[in-house]
Amino acid sequence: MAYPKDFIDTNDLTKEQVLAIEDLAIAMKKAIKVDGYYPHLLRNQSLGMIFQQVSTRTRVSFETAMCDLGGHAEFFGPGTIQLGGHESLGDTARVMGSLLDIMMARVNRHADVEGLAAGSAAPVLNGMSEFNHPTQEMGDLMTMLENLPEGKKIEDCTLAFIGDATQVCVSLMFIASKVGMHFVQFGPKGHQIPDGGLHVGTKEERAEFGKQLMAIGEENCKKSGGTIVISDDIECIKGADFVYTDVWYGLYDDEVSGTNYMDVFYPKYQVTMDMMNFAGPNSKFMHCLPATRNEEVTDEVMDNPERSLCWDEAENRKHSIRALLATFGRRTPLNDEDVEYSAKDELHAALAKIESL
Ligand code: CP
Repeated sequence: MAYPKDFIDTNDLTKEQVLAIEDLAIAMKKAIKVDGYYPHLLRNQSLGMIFQQVSTRTRVSFETAMCDLGGHAEFFGPGTIQLGGHESLGDTARVMGSLLDIMMARVNRHADVEGLAAGSAAPVLNGMSEFNHPTQEMGDLMTMLENLPEGKKIEDCTLAFIGDATQVCVSLMFIASKVGMHFVQFGPKGHQIPDGGLHVGTKEERAEFGKQLMAIGEENCKKSGGTIVISDDIECIKGADFVYTDVWYGLYDDEVSGTNYMDVFYPKYQVTMDMMNFAGPNSKFMHCLPATRNEEVTDEVMDNPERSLCWDEAENRKHSIRALLATFGRRTPLNDEDVEYSAKDELHAALAKIESL
C-alpha cells in the first residue's frame, strides 16, 4: 500500500510505514544532532501552518523542522485567513494547496482537516483535532523506541495511559495497537475510550462513537498481535513499561462536559512516584505536555531524571515531524555525495525504505 497523500490518521498507514517514518526520524536526528548535517529534503519549499487552537510544541516543531529540511514555514493563527466563513473550506483548500507545497492544520473540528486535505493538491498533515493527534503519536512512539527496556522489542512493551480519554489517549491506543504493543487505559467510567473520548454529542452518541474507536483498535490488534485493556482498577497498570498521562482539562472539553475534574480524577488517577513504582521499578513517565503540575502528575515524577521521558518526548516532536514532512512532502535529492556524516548509511537506508513502501 503506497503512502496516502495526506497524514490525517496513523490508521491510514501500515505498521511498516509507521516504523519506516520512525527510522527516518531517528536517522535524521543523528545526522543533525551528532554531525550537524542538515538533510535539505524539502529545499525551497513552503509549509503553511493553520492553527485554530493555541500551540507551543506543535507550532515550533513544524516551523523549525521545515527550516532544517531547507524550506520555510508560514504561520496562520486563528482568524488570520478565510477558513469556512465567507469562503468555503474547499475553496480555501484549493487556493492554499496551489500556493503552498505542504500544509498542516490544528483544527476545532476533525472534518475541517479532512476537508482541507480533500480540497488541496498539496499534502495536508493533521496537527491535532478533537478526534486525534497523530504527530504526537509519532513522537511518542519514537521516544518509546529510543527507550526500550533492556531485552524488549516494542511489541513486548505495555503502555499504560492514566486518566481521561482525550484525543491523545485515543491516538496512543491507535498507534500502540498498530505496532503490536499492549495498551491499557486506567480511567474512571464515563471517561474511558468506549465512552466516546472527546466526541461531541449525547451520551448515547458518544458511546456509539466509543464503539467505533474500540473497533479500530481491535482491528489493529488482530493484525499486529497487540492487546487493549480498559479499566478503573489500578491492577491493570502493573508491569507497564511506559506510564502516560494528559491534562484533565482538555482544549476541547468545554463543549462536552461541565464536570468538576478534580472530583473525578483526584487523587486516584494522579501519577505519583507510588503509582510509577506500582507499575514497575523501571517504568518510564510520559506526557504530551503542557502539564498541569501537581494535578495529573506530581513534580517529583515529571522532574525525575531516571523516570521521566516527557522532555525527550517534547524534543522528539520536532524530530518526528521532520520525518513526516520528508515522507509526505515532495522530496528533493539529498546531494550529500561530498559530505561525511556518521548516520549517512542509516539515512539513505531509511529514505530507500520510505520510497519502497
Ligand atoms: N503536545 C502538544 O500538542 O503541545 P502544543 O499544544 O503546545 O502544541
